Amino acid sequence: RTYRIAVIPGDGIGREVVPEGLRVLEAAARKFGFRLHLDEFDFASCDYYLKHNKMLPEDWKERIGSHDAIFFGAVGWPEKVPDHISLWGSLIQFRREFDQYANLRPVRLMPGIPCPLAGRAPGDIDFFVVRENTEGEYSSIGGSIFPGTHREVVIQETIMTRIGIDRILKFAFELAQKRPRKHLTSATKSNGISITMPYWDTRVEEMAKSFPDVTWDKYHIDILAAHFVLNPDRFNVVVASNLFGDILSDLGPACTGTIGIAPSGNINPERLFPSLFEPVHGSAPDIAGRGIANPVAQIWSGAMMLDHLGETEAGAAIVRAIEQVLPHKQLRTPDMGGTANTVTAGKAIADALT
Ligand code: NAI
Ligand code: MG
Repeated sequence: RTYRIAVIPGDGIGREVVPEGLRVLEAAARKFGFRLHLDEFDFASCDYYLKHNKMLPEDWKERIGSHDAIFFGAVGWPEKVPDHISLWGSLIQFRREFDQYANLRPVRLMPGIPCPLAGRAPGDIDFFVVRENTEGEYSSIGGSIFPGTHREVVIQETIMTRIGIDRILKFAFELAQKRPRKHLTSATKSNGISITMPYWDTRVEEMAKSFPDVTWDKYHIDILAAHFVLNPDRFNVVVASNLFGDILSDLGPACTGTIGIAPSGNINPERLFPSLFEPVHGSAPDIAGRGIANPVAQIWSGAMMLDHLGETEAGAAIVRAIEQVLPHKQLRTPDMGGTANTVTAGKAIADALT
């Protein structure tokens, strides 16, 4: 078995954690008897933009569209390129053009990590955020009127389509059905956002009828955020629109100690296009270049990628290796109260693979 992987480190700590992700993937490949054919690309980075005045080459779709998966670091360096240009010019293009409409983000309290919530043990926090990834609040429809004057008006529309909502709900309900608790929570705000969110709610009700064995509830996003902090054990699968899902999937991992461990898959469930695996976090310019970035999110994203490619045993082995290493303070990076650097932490996880 050989898998062709497009590797895109991007910016900042992306370039420091991607090599650790690859180190662990290659160790897993040796151990489990498959091969990785890696093609690395320098586009989707702010340095590429400074050279070429764009984030991606014209033929980017041909260059990465036939790979089995994309392994991505992080993009963004606000001092070089404004964030909306770097993100919309790269990652958001990938998500949309490759129809990666399901953004899957596990939230799990791992052993050994100091949890900022009192009295929580591993096992208490273990759920998935499923974020709609192609429409919703992140739309390019809008504009400004009278720019630069005191009468300035700016508008950005939220787009919700029946197809777009139904397919993400189906993905989330199917995931809930596969998990022991068979429970789903929907994030809404139908009291304040009075057109799109009530529509989202009616689609949830409709979809729930096809999954009679899955229990479900819904919370307005404001109180849902509070419950993430106060009662994270309540959740099993949380499905949310693009913006709400984005916020919840930083908040969730923060409640488990650090966003430096949170992985994600940007998935095209129909497999018509490659799916993309990346940490939830960004390029962290504040710590880039110091060798202290936590590589766990990137490594765990690699585990999700193997899972997606059908190498489920190898994926599970990587997660086990992470769980084995994290209790050791000298193998954890400083964001988890440890003393290791990026490379030591990555090597320890590669060595722990069994
Ligand atoms: P960020 O996630 O890069 O950093 C937020 C904070 O968390 C920083 O203090 C950082 O040092 C810390 N942090 C993040 N990852 C860490 C890790 N692996 N180990 C230890 N500490 C870590 O978010 P921020 O600062 O809002 O954005 C920085 C840049 O990243 C911007 O250009 C932004 O647009 C971009 N970004 C890109 C994303 C992506 O490529 N998917 C996602 C989020 C932001
Ligand atoms: Mg985010």
